[in-house]
Amino acid sequence: MTDIDWDELRAVAVEALQHAYVPYSHYPVGAAALVSDGRIVSGCNVENASYGVGLCAECGLVSNLQMSGGGNLVAFVCVNAHGETIMPCGRCRQLLNEFALPGMLLETVSGIRTIDEVLPDAFGPSDLEQVRR
Ligand code: THU
Repeated sequence: MTDIDWDELRAVAVEALQHAYVPYSHYPVGAAALVSDGRIVSGCNVENASYGVGLCAECGLVSNLQMSGGGNLVAFVCVNAHGETIMPCGRCRQLLNEFALPGMLLETVSGIRTIDEVLPDAFGPSDLEQVRR
């Protein structure tokens, strides 16, 4: 996990945000993640005239993950229009958690954090399994 190229991931996120559709917030976001098999997936935010329907960059990223072969996320970063690292919103931490490799790393505004640090005691697939059994 120590050989993650955060500069490369951030560069992919910056490229992704060029595709953002943000006529309402004017706040483009780009997200990029390293997948367990070594590929990199990315996404941008896509807003909607019905404001609440807007999609965060992470939505595009997880869709890209599935469409390009699935797998689990090893490392993640998202950036604003200045290329600065921002925190994924709460809903998106949940989205990422679904596909996170245990110990997944995120570059955050307070340094490198694990998914468990940014979403403690997460509700996840095992909670559903526990009741189903
Ligand atoms: N946004 C993201 O795409 N990801 C986040 O984690 C935070 C917020 C987007 C949603 C909206 O299009 C814009 O940023 C302003 O909130």
